[in-house]
Order: sequence, then structure tokens, then C-alpha cells
Amino acid sequence: MSSRKLKVGVVGLAVGASHVKDYAKSDIVQEIVLCDVNESRLNEIGDKYNISKKYTDFDKMLKEEKLDAISVAVPNFLHMPFAMRAMEAGAHVLCEKPMARNEAEARSMLEASQKHNKKLMINFNQRFQQECQTLKSVIDEGKLGDIYYVRTVWQRRRGLPWWYPLSSGKEICGGGAIIDLGVHVLDRAMWFCGYPEPEWVLGNTFCKVSKDEAMRRGIPNFELEDMGVAMFRMTNGTMLELEASWASNREKEIITTRIYGSKGGAVLHTTVGEGNAAYNKVFLETDGEIHDIPIEELRVSKMPNVRQAFLDAIVKDEEVPCTPQQGLRITQMLDMVYSSAEKGMPIRIESWSM
Ligand SMILES: NC(=O)c1ccc[n+]([C@@H]2O[C@H](COP(=O)([O-])OP(=O)(O)OC[C@H]3O[C@@H](n4cnc5c(N)ncnc54)[C@H](O)[C@@H]3O)[C@@H](O)[C@H]2O)c1
Repeated sequence: MSSRKLKVGVVGLAVGASHVKDYAKSDIVQEIVLCDVNESRLNEIGDKYNISKKYTDFDKMLKEEKLDAISVAVPNFLHMPFAMRAMEAGAHVLCEKPMARNEAEARSMLEASQKHNKKLMINFNQRFQQECQTLKSVIDEGKLGDIYYVRTVWQRRRGLPWWYPLSSGKEICGGGAIIDLGVHVLDRAMWFCGYPEPEWVLGNTFCKVSKDEAMRRGIPNFELEDMGVAMFRMTNGTMLELEASWASNREKEIITTRIYGSKGGAVLHTTVGEGNAAYNKVFLETDGEIHDIPIEELRVSKMPNVRQAFLDAIVKDEEVPCTPQQGLRITQMLDMVYSSAEKGMPIRIESWSM
């Protein structure tokens, strides 16, 4: 590996603090520069990691520091403008999920990365979990055969991010549970299946559970979906079902992806809470008998974490693992869910332009 040392910036220091933590541990990173409009957060993270270069103004940081790479971890409405300005200034970008609020923004980001010849990676961190890495390698070895049905779910009992200005509707976030949580489980399901091309989408969104709580919190016209569901039919016939909720009347929060293939099946299931109880299995048939195999027994060597994977792609000048094309595809699919919900009908995608 090249010994090149990178100067890396992080803008947005709430979830962005985990980016700082990973960069601080990486021997590819020579220097970290921080940016947040919240000065006390800026100083807290600066003190914690002994970082002296701190900015409250993103454009000032871009102007004064020659950064090799930047993590964009600000609210969703700032992903497109910040990522584009960073790439224009010559930095590679790791952008938090969702890539953008809508397809038009995501497409502008992809075009900017091509125009400025800068890497743009989307922070789909679930892919880097050990069980996801193992399942992906099982699938890529062909052990499940042809995958024909996938159900991917992130359901919360109660868990709206009330600290966000949710009263602004789609302005800040681009949407509710589907774009916030659904984006993660949709990406991992699409990645497992090799990113097939969707043809039909039937989706709907609801805000049935959270309105009373929103009233209590002084948001009388709360309109973001607290739950969304969709069924996609791919051009190769695969069906993919997506469910995501910030709030629903169910037991504990779960994150699940279940896959059915011609030769085998798989489930990744986590009950979120103390201990995060996991149930991860592959089901394989040999000689007419089906066997349940814990994913742990098939364990593959793990990829580096998402931040290190981004840095490695820069120094090796390789394609990033979570590409902007995949980010755009996911954004298009989420747009189709909202569009189907609004029109009350299935939507057919005649052709995907990437
Ligand atoms: N990958 C994951 O698992 C994961 C988890 C949580 C959040 N996220 C994503 O990360 C992003 C940030 O989420 P969050 O929960 O940290 O949000 P947050 O609102 O809690 O924090 C955002 C931070 O950005 C700062 N900020 C806002 N505007 C700024 C500006 N103009 N210049 C500089 N700093 C600014 C804020 O002061 C704050 O510190 C969102 O896009 C979210 O979807 C991803």
C-alpha cells in the first residue's frame, strides 16, 4: 500500500464524530480538520482528538486548507451543496446517507464527481458489518443460486428523530422513515442482489402513529411519513419488498433482510436494544436435505471499516465500494416510492438513466 498521508476534513460533528474517530485511528491520515457551526461541539471533538484546526465556516475551511478528502455529515439538505463545493475545491468526498433529498440532487453530485475527477462515496456503513460481508461472499460464490425474493426491513416501535426540525417537512430531510432508515436496508438488499434494475414500484407512506406526539411537541402539521412500504419488481423478475418505520405498533425495533434463492436462503435479523440480539443464518439444501448454518460458521475476513475503505480507495486510486451510481439508483428508487404513494398507483420505470 502507498504510504501517502492524507489531510482529511469532517463537516458536521454529531454522527460525524464517528468519522473523526476512524480517521484518527488510520495510519493513512496525517491531519484532520474539523468544521461545525456549533462551537461547543467543535471544541469538544477538537479536545477529544487533540485537533487544533477548527472552522465554523465550511467555505472558509475549503479556502484555507488544501484537503485531500472530506466527510460530509451535515443534515440531508446540505449534502448536495457541500459535496459539490468540496469536489470543486479538489477534495474526494465521503457523503453520509441518504446521498441526497432527491434524484436531481444526487445526479448533480454524480456529475460533479465526474467533472472534477473526484471520488464520491456514499456512507452505506451497514455493508461493512461482519455478517453482511459474509453473506455477500456466500451469495457471490453462487451458493444461494438465483435470488428471486428479498424482504428488507427496519421497523422501529417508537424512534422519531425529534431533534431534527421535522416541522419543515421534506425541506431538511427529503422525507421521513423511508429515506432515513429505509435507505440503509434498501442499499444492503440491492447490494446482496448485485444491484438489479427495477422496473415496477408500488409503494405507500403513512403518518398514522406520530401525529399525537407531534402535536404534544408543538408540530401541528407534521407531515413526514412515520412508515413507508414498497414492492419493487426488477427487470430480471426478482421481487424486493421494503418496509421502514420511525414509529409503528409492534414489539421491539428490528433490522431484517431475508433472501430466497433457488439453492438456498438467508436471514440477517437484529433485535435492536440491549445486547442487539442477532439471528443470522444461511439455509442450504444438499442431497434433498436443508441445513441451517449460522453465518458465524461461514465467516470471511472482514473488509476495513467504511471510512478506511474510502481512504484505501483514494490512495490506491481504485473505485470506491459504495459508488455514487449506486447512491443515485437508491435515491431514484426512493423517489419512485414517494411518487407511487402520491399518485396512488404503481409506477413503471421505462428506462433508468445513470
Ligand atoms: N450512517 C449512519 O448510520 C447515520 C446515522 C445518523 C445520521 N446519519 C446521517 O448523517 C447526517 C447528519 O446526521 P446527524 O444525526 O449527525 O445530524 P445532527 O443534526 O444531529 O448533526 C448535524 C451536525 O451538523 C452541524 N451543521 C449543521 N449545519 C452546518 C453547517 N452549515 N456547517 C457546518 N456544520 C453544520 C450541526 O451543528 C450538527 O453538529 C444526516 O444526513 C443523517 O442522515 C447517518
